[in-house]
Amino acid sequence: MIRKSLEDGVQTLRLDRPEKKNALTGQMYNDLAEALEAGNTDADIRCHLICGLPEVFTAGNDIGDFLQYAGKTGLGETPVVRFLRALVRNEKPLVASVDGIAIGVGTTLLMHCDMVFASPRALIRSPFVDLGLVPEAGSSLLGPQIMGPARAFELLCLGNAFSAEKAEQAGLVNEVVEGDVDAAALACAKEIAAKPPEAMALSRKLLRGDTARLSERVEEEIRIFASRLSAPETIAAFQAFMTKKKA
Ligand code: COA
Repeated sequence: MIRKSLEDGVQTLRLDRPEKKNALTGQMYNDLAEALEAGNTDADIRCHLICGLPEVFTAGNDIGDFLQYAGKTGLGETPVVRFLRALVRNEKPLVASVDGIAIGVGTTLLMHCDMVFASPRALIRSPFVDLGLVPEAGSSLLGPQIMGPARAFELLCLGNAFSAEKAEQAGLVNEVVEGDVDAAALACAKEIAAKPPEAMALSRKLLRGDTARLSERVEEEIRIFASRLSAPETIAAFQAFMTKKKA
């Protein structure tokens, strides 16, 4: 589930599905999308903070859910698609606190954040190719922009895990926090929320630039990703994960 709260202009969105390492379900994507969309029209929401649990940010998309899409023609208006579009259209600053594993979309959503805080035990990994998939959430465009093509290849194609320190060096993480990473991220989110909102919105928009190309890339990735969900090598990888877990 997603636990939502609003305090001092900061909407906190906490991923909370510990028994499945915070793997994201359709309901969770919908709740996240709805919360981001609400921020675009609600003046009381001045900043979003997304965080997970101790040792786990998220294990990415629920792999069992992926298997349900095999054989279908596309992803249509599924919750995950709604969430990816909401990320691109989000107009309020987005802060993340990562205190453990951040896999798949747990990595790529960080590329949409304005500030990312990580604890030393954060581990950022995107095994898309190992699963027969391709990078999503605009990461094929944002990744090389943020960290350069070589490191983006390492993260998004090779599937290497980045430590908090390496992610900071790559420009994906702003700060590695030794103590309470959620508290540090919340303090930053509150600082953002306390600033003049119009100037903040205009400044952020200038920094992000024209998002049309990003939107196009997200849609292109969705089309390719959807077709990969029916590829034999992908289904085999998902089944291997599910079987291993059952065993
Ligand atoms: N989708 C569905 N279930 C998942 C999941 C996912 N992405 N990640 C973890 N889980 C489930 C496991 O199946 C297990 O369920 P079970 O207790 O019913 O067997 C439970 O969460 C705990 O996971 P487990 O693998 O036992 O924990 P771990 O500490 O040994 O490993 C991970 C944690 C995250 C490293 C490992 O679960 C993993 O690699 N998950 C898949 C990550 C992934 O590839 N995501 C998709 C990216 S596109």
